[in-house]
Amino acid sequence: MPGPIRYAVFPVAGKGTRFLPATKASPKEMLPVVDKPLIQYAVEEALAAGATNLIFITGRHKRAIEDHFDSDADLEQLLEAKGKDDQLEMVRSIVPDDVSCIYIRQGEPLGLGHAVLCARSVVGNQPFFVHLADDLIDADVPCLEQMRQLYEDVGGSVIGVQRVPREHTDQYGVVDGEPVGDNVWRLSGIVEKPAPDSAPTDLAVVGRYILEPEIFEHLTQIGEGAGGEIQLTDGIARLLGERAVRACEFDGIRFDCGSKLGYLEATVHFGLKHAEFGDDFRIFLCNTTADL
Ligand code: UTP
Repeated sequence: MPGPIRYAVFPVAGKGTRFLPATKASPKEMLPVVDKPLIQYAVEEALAAGATNLIFITGRHKRAIEDHFDSDADLEQLLEAKGKDDQLEMVRSIVPDDVSCIYIRQGEPLGLGHAVLCARSVVGNQPFFVHLADDLIDADVPCLEQMRQLYEDVGGSVIGVQRVPREHTDQYGVVDGEPVGDNVWRLSGIVEKPAPDSAPTDLAVVGRYILEPEIFEHLTQIGEGAGGEIQLTDGIARLLGERAVRACEFDGIRFDCGSKLGYLEATVHFGLKHAEFGDDFRIFLCNTTADL
């Protein structure tokens, strides 16, 4: 039986051009959905799946991410002095004491595959999670945990997928393969951003992966792919010739928070679920839409 997965890689070095001007000087991963930045949702999901070593692949203008996960003695002192115990507990518990945060710079954003390869010296010969924070998923069982359970049963690499409308396949990596269980496929191929008429299926890769360390060697062997970037998809296409790679269609709702519309949808979804003001927000939305 495969052992626990302790490493989680968060590639956060992308330019975020779809979200300009908000992302000109600040990271898109720090965009808040209601009251938490995207990257904190990401970290919570990885912790829930058992990760204890969090590796952030960062780049220019991403310092705010490091600051967010550092402890802040001044802020804690202030909250303590004012008796704001709930907020104090909230900021103290962002990263548990037994979890380490590691930051690696990707000097140039050469692509997701290149970003993942940057983690090699730390991850070594271990399986690891990859989590793209701009794909925000609301699920009863967190998405990475669903995938980890499959990994625990069968090993290999596991990729999170979701069905998308055919006309959108050119925005995703798309998998090919045969079903081997409930919502599980054994991959025979994977292709980045295929045109709708050449896409092998409508099963699109969203930003969740469990990868075996053999991926690193494959990532050193590939050149530029779609969009002139070093694509993780191309590395996985090589990996599946050597090792088992499965796709897992997870239960949950996914929001593409790298796009403005997806981000707005996520904000409404999580706002409506908020314990403190979800009900008031619902009334506000009903009144607003009635007025339009
Ligand atoms: P995206 O495809 O969303 O690219 O990257 P992007 O640059 O962040 O955003 P747009 O498309 O220009 O709006 C998917 C994920 O891979 C990371 C991004 O930070 C994002 O989480 N990434 C991408 C890197 O870390 N490095 C890269 O070189 C490319």
